[in-house]
Amino acid sequence: MGDITYQFEYAERIPCAFIGAGGHSYRNVYPSFQYAPVELLAVCDLDVARAREYTRKFGAARAYADHHEMLERERPAAVFIVTGYDDDGRVQATRLALDCLAAGAHVWMEKPTAASLEEVHRLRAASATADRFVMTGLKKVFTPAMEKTKAIISSPEFGAVSSIAVRYPQSLPPPERRHDLREMRGFLDHIYHPAAILSYLMGPVSRFSHEWEPVGGGSTASLRFASGAVGTLHLAAGGAATSPLERVEVIGEGANVVVDNSVRLTYYRRGGRLPYGRAPSYVVDDEYAALTWEPEFSLGQLYNKNLFYLGYVPEILHFCESILTKTPPAKGTLEDAGAIMELFEAYQSIPPGTVVELPLDRPHSRRMDGDH
Ligand SMILES: NC(=O)c1ccc[n+]([C@@H]2O[C@H](COP(=O)([O-])OP(=O)(O)OC[C@H]3O[C@@H](n4cnc5c(N)ncnc54)[C@H](O)[C@@H]3O)[C@@H](O)[C@H]2O)c1
Repeated sequence: MGDITYQFEYAERIPCAFIGAGGHSYRNVYPSFQYAPVELLAVCDLDVARAREYTRKFGAARAYADHHEMLERERPAAVFIVTGYDDDGRVQATRLALDCLAAGAHVWMEKPTAASLEEVHRLRAASATADRFVMTGLKKVFTPAMEKTKAIISSPEFGAVSSIAVRYPQSLPPPERRHDLREMRGFLDHIYHPAAILSYLMGPVSRFSHEWEPVGGGSTASLRFASGAVGTLHLAAGGAATSPLERVEVIGEGANVVVDNSVRLTYYRRGGRLPYGRAPSYVVDDEYAALTWEPEFSLGQLYNKNLFYLGYVPEILHFCESILTKTPPAKGTLEDAGAIMELFEAYQSIPPGTVVELPLDRPHSRRMDGDH
């Protein structure tokens, strides 16, 4: 990523509207606009007093309680949607995105994109019909550490990617309760993070099984990828609140890379020799030494803001650049969301201990998929 331009320095800004004036958006999405070519026209929330407060805080002109009215009056080129869940566990943003597409706007939406694969297919069809982009904020694949990991594992020196281990804290309900979206709300909300990483680094999953424990609802999944690589997804439940949440390790051929706590990246490079029983020192030549990146946390630099190292500004910039260059987004796509929902539905419908091939056999969805 090149140097950052401040919002007011952009010669061309995209006329945008925003649906949702909630907590996450206040902390992380609206503030990211400081570094993006966004002209915030209006904010909409069912709670119009909040929408009004956000217009003042984030420099928009008008507030609305009804998104239909906002779309009609403002005619935004793009809409950001950061909303929540209906009482039955459905994702509010899915139908709001369909309304925005119908009004001719590009859509950036927070994860989850939808509560089923079929709904993702519906969004794909609507996106194609409207000729407008839909991007989901898959922040994990926009973090500097994960982008560098992708570059490392794609390099010839790393060799073929052979396996991956991802650990993320998340509880899963017992099998008999997984078709109730209210019970699955937390799982749906969070599976997007580790699943986005798996999809980005490894491509599609071709075989899936998992084991589940009833104490905290933790699980381990055994994965085989279409590439032939294998992997595990450890959804830990019961860890301490003080613990770092996540760890990702990818293994190549004589090399491996580890991302700890989202920001600490270590690349163990190929080539060092430490013959067993004969090596007097663990210090290898510089060209084979491990490389480590982590931020300093002293300077008032942009890279020290969570808006940057957690991927928020980069994902929004990607969306804006897609619109300005008329190029579909390459990450956070509806195809990516579909891959995540494929995994979600496997957890939902496959009992622990059962091995299945993915994609699951769904004649209806396949037909829809072929429509566009
Ligand atoms: N990527 C991340 O790091 C991250 C972190 C937290 C939350 N999130 C996601 O963000 C979303 C929730 O964000 P939040 O914390 O701001 O939620 P929130 O519940 O605080 O706010 C949601 C807002 O949307 C409004 N809303 C709902 N339906 C609406 C409609 N039809 N029209 C107008 N306004 C409507 C609600 O009134 C509410 O103010 C979820 O999708 C969640 O998964 C992502």
